Amino acid sequence: MSVKKIAILFSGNGSNLENILKKVHNKTFNGTTIKCELLICNKKDAFGIQRAKKYGLETVIIEHKNFNSREEFDEKLVNLIKQKDIDLTILAGFMRILTPVFTKNVKAINLHPSILPLFKGANAIKESFESDMLVGGVSVHFVSEELDGGKLINQLVFYRKKGMSLDEWEENIHALEYEILPKTIIELLAFSN
Ligand code: GRF
Repeated sequence: MSVKKIAILFSGNGSNLENILKKVHNKTFNGTTIKCELLICNKKDAFGIQRAKKYGLETVIIEHKNFNSREEFDEKLVNLIKQKDIDLTILAGFMRILTPVFTKNVKAINLHPSILPLFKGANAIKESFESDMLVGGVSVHFVSEELDGGKLINQLVFYRKKGMSLDEWEENIHALEYEILPKTIIELLAFSN
């Protein structure tokens, strides 16, 4: 049996973080046990920190505002991830643009609430809702230097119902996020060689 270590980076609410802890952490898939070895948050008041405590996990808080540059902040992240010998890093609601210092040194995946390459950036849910699109969806992709631009790994979509509200649109997106992210982590760590 093998063990694969993950790191999760988040910035706020942490519902995707909790979903991963619930469905993936300390569980075995196809002979591989996946362990969450590192949690990093760049906001000291993020609710996700409390969610992680329920699972007995402490979060390392690294506030980007204490660094002189994006590169210095990224270097700190990379050092922590390397120290723990992490196999896969997951950005789950981590709201920071990462530089090549991070992207060239860490194998990471990101969850994004739209059908990429459409609606990149921080307002994807609202922008996709306000578009003419008849489908919405979510994407998981490898993290590259281009914001929300790395190679796609998985996507899930839903149909727009007539008269759908923004809240309903968002609910659909979150429901798919809770499906796609654990599935992708398991696929990458336990079902590919
Ligand atoms: C999710 O919609 C994710 O796609 C986006 O940020 C949100 C994070 O939500 N990048 P949560 O913190 O996991 O609840």
